[in-house]
Amino acid sequence: MTRGLRLVFLLVALVCALSAAGFLLLRHGLEPAEGLAGEFSAYNHPAEPWFLDAHVVSAVALTLVLGIALGVHVLPSLATESRARRSGLGLAIWAAVMVASGALLPVIAAEGPRLALVWIHGLSGACFALWIPVHLACVRRARRARNGQGVSTPIGGRPPRSPRAKPRALVGARPPYF
Ligand code: HEM
Ligand code: HEM
Repeated sequence: MTRGLRLVFLLVALVCALSAAGFLLLRHGLEPAEGLAGEFSAYNHPAEPWFLDAHVVSAVALTLVLGIALGVHVLPSLATESRARRSGLGLAIWAAVMVASGALLPVIAAEGPRLALVWIHGLSGACFALWIPVHLACVRRARRARNGQGVSTPIGGRPPRSPRAKPRALVGARPPYF
């Protein structure tokens, strides 16, 4: 995964998760705003529809970015990687449930199935968002283990190397007089 794609993915996922959290808070966590109370009001707060709009727009972007990541990162990693495999697989499964339930939300109108879908979508979306740092931590741990104890590599970067370090070919080589 390139540095740019990683940045866009993290940014879009953050906007999508925060807008959903903001919508939930305004919808269910607050008393109705002045003038919006009553059985004929569709909203609990004037900013509620803005959060939902932000969520739906960022959700389209997140679905696109996840599709790109599927081609350049997820499938190639599944084929070749043993590092961070379980956390990556978990993230991919949460993503699949979240996108499928999110896509079905606007087309299911019956009250019972819609409520079930809202719960499935909200929970899988929350698990997806909370699983991202778990995957990144597993990647970081795997890199540290590969590079030797105590040497930390920035995600997406090369291990730090001292300017006075020996050339790679000589590191660990036996001196010729043994
Ligand atoms: C960070 C991940 C996500 C979280 C935490 C999340 C959470 C939520 C929540 C809590 C709602 C409100 C449900 C309700 O009370 O009606 C919602 C609505 C919705 N989400 Fe997501 N979601 C996420 C990602 C996505 C993605 C990737 C899609 C696209 C497939 C999507 C599409 C939708 C749609 C279409 C709605 C319904 C909007 C409406 O009721 O008009 N979400 N989401
Ligand atoms: C939707 C699913 C996934 C997402 C969103 C995701 C996201 C990411 C991100 C943001 C990074 C850090 C970027 C980087 O350093 O290149 C990363 C690294 C990594 N992921 Fe995933 N990942 C997913 C699935 C998987 C799966 C299924 C596996 C393994 C089978 C996996 C294995 C790895 C490994 C090994 C790295 C480190 C790559 C390196 O050192 O160059 N990921 N992933």
